[in-house]
Amino acid sequence: MEPRRSSPPLLLLLLLLGASGFFQSYAVEVDVKDASNATCLYAKWMMRFLIKYETNSSDYKNATLNLSSGVTHNGSVCGNDTQAALLAVQFGEGHSWSINFTKTNETYQGEFITFTYNTNDTAVFPDAKRKGPITIFVKDTMHPVQLNNVFVCHNTDFLEAENVTQIFWNVTVQPFVQNGTISKKESRCRADMPTSAPTVPPTIANVTTAPTTTLSPAPTTAPKPVENPDTGNYSLKSGNTTCLLATVGLQLNVSQDKPHLINVNPKTTTADGACGNTTATLKLNDGNSTLIGFTFVKNTSASVQKFYLKEVNVTLLNHLNGSVISNADNSNFSEWDAFLGSSYMCRKEQTLKINEDLQVHTFNLWIQPFLVKANKFSTAEECFADSDLNFLIPIAVGMALGFLIILVFISYVIGRRKSRTGYQSV
Ligand SMILES: *[C@@H]1O[C@H](CO)[C@@H](O)[C@H](O)[C@H]1NC(C)=O
Ligand SMILES: *[C@@H]1O[C@H](CO)[C@@H](O)[C@H](O)[C@H]1NC(C)=O
Ligand SMILES: *[C@@H]1O[C@H](CO)[C@@H](O)[C@H](O)[C@H]1NC(C)=O
Ligand SMILES: *[C@@H]1O[C@H](CO)[C@@H](O)[C@H](O)[C@H]1NC(C)=O
Ligand SMILES: *[C@@H]1O[C@H](CO)[C@@H](O)[C@H](O)[C@H]1NC(C)=O
Ligand SMILES: *[C@@H]1O[C@H](CO)[C@@H](O)[C@H](O)[C@H]1NC(C)=O
Ligand SMILES: *[C@@H]1O[C@H](CO)[C@@H](O)[C@H](O)[C@H]1NC(C)=O
Ligand SMILES: *[C@@H]1O[C@H](CO)[C@@H](O)[C@H](O)[C@H]1NC(C)=O
Ligand SMILES: *[C@@H]1O[C@H](CO)[C@@H](O)[C@H](O)[C@H]1NC(C)=O
Ligand SMILES: *[C@@H]1O[C@H](CO)[C@@H](O)[C@H](O)[C@H]1NC(C)=O
Ligand SMILES: *[C@@H]1O[C@H](CO)[C@@H](O)[C@H](O)[C@H]1NC(C)=O
Ligand SMILES: *[C@@H]1O[C@H](CO)[C@@H](O)[C@H](O)[C@H]1NC(C)=O
Repeated sequence: MEPRRSSPPLLLLLLLLGASGFFQSYAVEVDVKDASNATCLYAKWMMRFLIKYETNSSDYKNATLNLSSGVTHNGSVCGNDTQAALLAVQFGEGHSWSINFTKTNETYQGEFITFTYNTNDTAVFPDAKRKGPITIFVKDTMHPVQLNNVFVCHNTDFLEAENVTQIFWNVTVQPFVQNGTISKKESRCRADMPTSAPTVPPTIANVTTAPTTTLSPAPTTAPKPVENPDTGNYSLKSGNTTCLLATVGLQLNVSQDKPHLINVNPKTTTADGACGNTTATLKLNDGNSTLIGFTFVKNTSASVQKFYLKEVNVTLLNHLNGSVISNADNSNFSEWDAFLGSSYMCRKEQTLKINEDLQVHTFNLWIQPFLVKANKFSTAEECFADSDLNFLIPIAVGMALGFLIILVFISYVIGRRKSRTGYQSV
């Protein structure tokens, strides 16, 4: 299994822009290089977040979160025909932001934005009632852009979801860069177009953008796929080394509203998460409104250390505006257990019941959340469902036969004894 080739010589520059103190913001520049050191994903943009949060006196306040210095870019991925590109940045006291891009033969498009803000950051949220990271997912509103064009938008763009307004401006981005050269052909956002277009007066802009969103078909009533899902290869890295490997085909059985099955498309799915000493988390984002998280833990109470799947959570989002349709979490699993240092395999279909309304079906599963060596799966422990029945049946038959022979032998011996004692007493 080939790991994600996330390029080592990532380059990130921070430029201090804007002399006026009040709107002081940093431009972020990320230049992701591929294995041959050529630029494959380039972005430079400015952003800011307005976040409504609950205070310890139970009212709501608005905080402004700006990009600070010390931005990192761990986990950014070049992407290709089969894998989405990922632009990921981390900043401040535990905040992070990422967007994935998918491509077709002609175009590319932003899919989902994942934003995590940490209310433990007392400089921004001094009196937050709830302390800790909060993650939101928003469907990107970017229209498809011609491949090999650089997308430019100087005007401000807003995205609002779940108490957070994300504000972007001075955006330059190009995923799937060819030949390592940023294109000279620009695709400008609508707001940047010359004022002949009816985009300037906000009332008209609302009218003109509304039909484009309602044109897309409703997302929740998708025709159910009957065929099994394609199997995907996913991996996580810690630094330069692969620390988690997963091969799996995933299907969701959603019973909410109209029951339906959703196959996770590995071609558009990106893997994210974290490897740890005692816990490993694999988060999959199918780039199309489905997010699945798997949490593995070590069982330290056993005499020989094992690992198992402890938690699965699934978030289904509305296609059009990224609002959460359902959020299911079950942290009481004790599945997929295997000895530490080995991998767990189950080719047959398995069902993980998250709650009454949601099941996750897995196919061709092969997983190793801990102690991955040299980018390869270690010896696999196979699930019982996979075990060869043709191999078990002869053993069972053999055991039954052996048991019968012993039984016959014992009754023969007992019979002989009885008859011998019988002779003696006469
Ligand atoms: C996943 O990896 C296996 C080998 O580890 C390979 O045979 C298979 O083609 C890969 N699948 C994809 C979709 O890349
Ligand atoms: C796409 O990228 C992934 C990871 O970087 C790699 O494993 C895969 O082989 C690539 N596929 C193609 C068609 O280049
Ligand atoms: C990539 O290019 C940079 C400068 O352009 C250079 O410093 C670096 O050593 C190169 N890395 C590799 C692996 O070639
Ligand atoms: C709320 O938090 C602030 C900052 O930590 C603290 O000064 C204040 O006393 C707290 N108020 C209440 C009602 O807990
Ligand atoms: C968002 O705001 C609403 C109230 O407007 C509140 O009920 C909810 O808990 C908030 N969500 C988060 C994640 O802060
Ligand atoms: C956006 O970028 C342009 C040129 O790159 C610059 O002149 C302008 O000041 C920037 N706008 C903001 C708000 O920083
Ligand atoms: C990349 O290079 C190839 C071969 O050198 C060329 O055919 C192609 O047009 C180039 N693509 C771009 C976008 O420059
Ligand atoms: C996204 O999901 C919808 C509904 O679930 C489906 O019709 C569509 O084909 C999916 N798009 C992609 C690119 O997988
Ligand atoms: C989907 O879930 C429902 C409710 O739990 C169940 O009745 C149904 O059999 C499941 N369908 C499949 C294909 O597993
Ligand atoms: C699942 O739970 C983990 C840990 O609580 C969280 O980090 C992650 O964002 C959740 N994922 C989804 C898809 O809800
Ligand atoms: C951990 O291992 C112990 C000893 O083998 C076992 O009794 C226990 O059920 C395991 N815990 C889980 C959650 O699998
Ligand atoms: C998203 O759209 C759905 C239906 O299309 C609607 O019910 C929901 O309120 C919308 N959410 C937001 C945050 O706009």
